[in-house]
Amino acid sequence: MALARLGAYVVAVLALLFPSLAAAESVASPDGRIVLDVSVDGSGTVAYTISRDGKAVIARSTLGLQFSEGGPLRRDMRITGSSSYSGDETWEQPWGERRFVRDQHNGLVVQLEQTIGDNTRKMDINFRVFNGGVGFRYVFPEQSGWDTARITDELTEFNLADNGTAWWVPAGDWNRYEYIYSETAADAVPTAHSPISFRLNNGVHVALHEAALVDYSGMWIKRIEKLRFRAELAPSATGAKVVRDLPFATPWRTIRIADDAAGLYDNDIDLNLNEPNKLGDVSWFEPHKYIGIWWGMHLDTESWNTGPKHGANTENAKRYIDFAAKHGFRGVLIEGWNVGWDGPWFGNGRAFNFTRPTEDFDIAEITRYGLDKGVRLIGHHETGGNIKVYEEQLADAMAYYRELGIDAVKTGYVTDAGAIIAAGPDGGEQFVWHDGQRMVQHHLLAVKEAAKNRIAVNAHEPVKATGLRRTYPNWVSREGARGMEYQAWGEPKNPPEHVPTLVFTRMLSGPMDYTPGVLSLIGRGETRLQSTLARQLALYVVLYSPIQMAADLPENLAQYPRELEFISKVPADWQQSRTLLGEIGDHAVIARQDRNSKAWYIGGVTDSDARSLSVPLDFLDKGTRYTATIYRDGPNADGLGEDRHDIVIESRELGAEDALDISMARAGGFAISLEPVE
Ligand code: NOJ
Ligand code: CA
Repeated sequence: MALARLGAYVVAVLALLFPSLAAAESVASPDGRIVLDVSVDGSGTVAYTISRDGKAVIARSTLGLQFSEGGPLRRDMRITGSSSYSGDETWEQPWGERRFVRDQHNGLVVQLEQTIGDNTRKMDINFRVFNGGVGFRYVFPEQSGWDTARITDELTEFNLADNGTAWWVPAGDWNRYEYIYSETAADAVPTAHSPISFRLNNGVHVALHEAALVDYSGMWIKRIEKLRFRAELAPSATGAKVVRDLPFATPWRTIRIADDAAGLYDNDIDLNLNEPNKLGDVSWFEPHKYIGIWWGMHLDTESWNTGPKHGANTENAKRYIDFAAKHGFRGVLIEGWNVGWDGPWFGNGRAFNFTRPTEDFDIAEITRYGLDKGVRLIGHHETGGNIKVYEEQLADAMAYYRELGIDAVKTGYVTDAGAIIAAGPDGGEQFVWHDGQRMVQHHLLAVKEAAKNRIAVNAHEPVKATGLRRTYPNWVSREGARGMEYQAWGEPKNPPEHVPTLVFTRMLSGPMDYTPGVLSLIGRGETRLQSTLARQLALYVVLYSPIQMAADLPENLAQYPRELEFISKVPADWQQSRTLLGEIGDHAVIARQDRNSKAWYIGGVTDSDARSLSVPLDFLDKGTRYTATIYRDGPNADGLGEDRHDIVIESRELGAEDALDISMARAGGFAISLEPVE
């Protein structure tokens, strides 16, 4: 910190001596550990640096954007003013990993101007520094002579000060976000999606992402050279990647900085950078668990299309509803219920009708049957990536569900990246990206239309999450990484390190509909899931979502009554959450307290190494004793071997002063519930 301050001081002195040469501003986190410096050099290039405890984390990184209607805003910039601000408030989430979120920060707005000839353009940069990292965004105020910005790319850099290890999935390739994570040297990353996480050689953990992605293109992280990364915006079908009328602000670019992996995950800066709830009372959304006519399609024993294997028929639906009612699941997802699946729907979607059930699916009777038993259908809008067709029907589709009493919908955009079909300006078809500006607009359109009808949205093949659940709390979950379905299909399946990697990468962005709970541990054609039975239970605690599926077939779930009971009981909404142990890609142990009782739950997962851990329990209420029910890998359990179902379920009394030694098998895990002793 002293060094950084000295640096800022030298720059400030230089600026005093040579006002045209340099200018600098600085802002520190509330705890003083993180310092961000902004400077403009002699060429008028704006740059920032970030240090923590006096050690550089982000070396000098330049800022700016380029446009098709004018030159880049990069050189010839001048600071015309600046202002500081700070905030400290605690706000309440309607649902989440924690009920109360503290937003404590210091901010700095730097006003910039560029004059070339007689053309002057203004741009502000709003920097906000939290104890957990930094966010900044570009703000374009209203100004004469500039009505519409056509952004061809962003020039924002993230220049890591130290090499280290990176965990990432590639950006710009056909399968969107659904790749196995790569673990490489930081200076070997090509172009990656965010969140991307790093463990620098000096031990500092850093994650790059964005917050409040609204009416803009998603940011990819492209390595230019060595440790210099740059924002690259997702492409557009129409030339400029972003077209916006002034005034507007870009999404926030966020840099989480933490001592360890746990500090990356237990970090709310992205949520804090989003606007408060715009929907008002959303208590109609109840976090819940669900089953579905779903896994059978992925096993290929049932089909989405009509015919002998059609899963979505009235009789089958009632069977699922009976099972849900018996075991306390609020929701039943039914895919393949509507017209449009019989032809080539993937990447096509032209035949989908979102208000017409198939003939063998009596939706009115099924929803009535469900409501009588306290079970709700979860709607399904698979678009095949055709938002032209979907948007034409959107209002009717949501109203139709509302009338039927359906208050949650899973949407789907199955097509290759860059192959989303949107309505073009001439009414024809235009092909756009899953994370380009057009699709970012689409998601909010769908979420708002759903909200009008009191419907919660869970998007698959989505755009990544950027904390918008704070503003639109009916956007409850999404996919956006390889989920359980990859364990059903062919090879390669998700490797054992996938889950402990997800926790510290994908999960930084928000809830994921991973669809855990395949207790049979069997995929298509009797292939084996790389998992122990106990690990399936761990997923409900480790991978947060306010809607959680029990993905297996009911007849399979019924084979494991004690595990099924855990799944019925485990909450999907939490008072507080704490990462107890973890290393990216190795293991993760997370504790969460039920929002509606004093009970705690702990989940742990490992990679392909068996592991023994001592789990600290000092987060428990001092002076309270808890009855712990422990579901752990049995002595013969091996998630990669013969006996994947060996499980020990035992009860013990535990308290804050105890530590719990627990062993996990290869590809194993554990789950624990802790109920206060009366
Ligand atoms: C892909 C989704 O991830 C999966 O859950 C769904 O079953 C299919 N698309 C069909 O919509
Ligand atoms: Ca998918």
